[in-house]
Amino acid sequence: MEISVIGTGYVGLVTGVCLAHIGNKVTCIDIDEEKINTLKSGISPIYEEGLTELLQENINNGNLDFTSDYKEGLAGKKFVYIAVGTPQGEDGSADLTYIDKACESIAQHLEENTVIVTKSTVPVGTNEYIKGKIESNLINEVTIKIASNPEFLRQGSAVYDTFNGDRIVVGSDDEETLNLLEKINEGFKLPIVRTDLRSAEMIKYASNAFLATKISFINEMANLSEKIGANIDHVAKGMGMDKRIGNSFLNAGIGYGGSCFPKDTRAIISIGKKAQYDMPILENVVDANERQRDILVDKVLKKYKDISGKKVAVLGLAFKPNTDDMREAPSISVTNKLLANGAIVTAYDPVATDNAKEVLSSQVKFAKSIEDAIDGADIAMILTEWAEIKAYPLESYKNYMNQAVIFDGRNCHSLELAKESGAVYHSIGRPSMN
Ligand code: UGA
Repeated sequence: MEISVIGTGYVGLVTGVCLAHIGNKVTCIDIDEEKINTLKSGISPIYEEGLTELLQENINNGNLDFTSDYKEGLAGKKFVYIAVGTPQGEDGSADLTYIDKACESIAQHLEENTVIVTKSTVPVGTNEYIKGKIESNLINEVTIKIASNPEFLRQGSAVYDTFNGDRIVVGSDDEETLNLLEKINEGFKLPIVRTDLRSAEMIKYASNAFLATKISFINEMANLSEKIGANIDHVAKGMGMDKRIGNSFLNAGIGYGGSCFPKDTRAIISIGKKAQYDMPILENVVDANERQRDILVDKVLKKYKDISGKKVAVLGLAFKPNTDDMREAPSISVTNKLLANGAIVTAYDPVATDNAKEVLSSQVKFAKSIEDAIDGADIAMILTEWAEIKAYPLESYKNYMNQAVIFDGRNCHSLELAKESGAVYHSIGRPSMN
């Protein structure tokens, strides 16, 4: 099939490259010319495992190309995927500015009948809005059909998820469009859910909201476990073995971050409000997540009462491992709270330092290694479970710190090893050691 994909962010680029890889002829369009030139030369502006290889392979075999020119990018295409960003607006709802711009550009350059497929996460009803927006701006006499095909990729394993996800959702109110989309997606060899437009849009928000709920739930259980002397590792294991609950997304920590869960949970609450329907469960999920970000600093303050002048090493800044993304990372509020209490903060992250410098307070100092960060520190705090940080032995902390006192916000270490190491070790939902 001849497909164009609008937007070369991580969703659009991964979608375009993977659609090309299963045999479609794909042109990716982006208004950022510099980015398009980089991509044309086979270089990916984002790091995703396996992406560069597939990008180069499919450029070379002629299945994939890039352009900043809508006319050129849309010529001869039967399908146009919209994969532009939908950031959070001021009131929590999704901001559709980029969707609007894409629709206007599509309308001006469309020369034949086309199926418009929305990949971006958009509020329920937006696909109908997209149809109206394009139709009212069309220059040529063409007809468009509309479909929703939400993405479920995790940042950091987006290519793997495309070929190994649990399902593909295709939604349209038109049977023929559904058949065509099903045909395109058969190449991914995953179960396909066929549904109507609005249900497809809703599946995406409901899935992210449910996963966020699972995290806030396990965090709440962790906080309670700590108070009553239980161990959240054992609690989560015992719960997760019940197939109805499932064992994934039961890792307690300092809350979810990133560009999806915080934005999408607020957006679905806002969708509810517009439909005059309050969702107290999700409002509490969001509030609980905000509170959870404070939990580790609260533990520090409980132990020390006053941390003014204390040197704190913060290990891990990205919102999760294997990404340099700092959007809604818990490290932002944690470092702010430490600084507000007078601490001297030195931070280390294997890859997110450049992005962190843009969002963290200028008072945060940056170290080049774990040892650099903990050297002379009074307290070490683990905020992201990078493999390097997890592998760093607890007994090594005492070689650099005044006294090894570690607050682990991601439960990176077993309590047995923590006890043996002699380090003072506090974690989430588990008894403190030493
Ligand atoms: C998430 C979803 O997992 C994807 O399915 C979805 O497509 C994507 O959002 C999106 O909407 O685009 P992502 O934000 O990349 O993907 O990251 P996750 O790996 O899901 O982690 C999100 C946050 O939850 C991280 O801050 C992570 O630390 C936290 N988390 C995750 C926990 O605190 N505990 C867990 O058990 C799992």
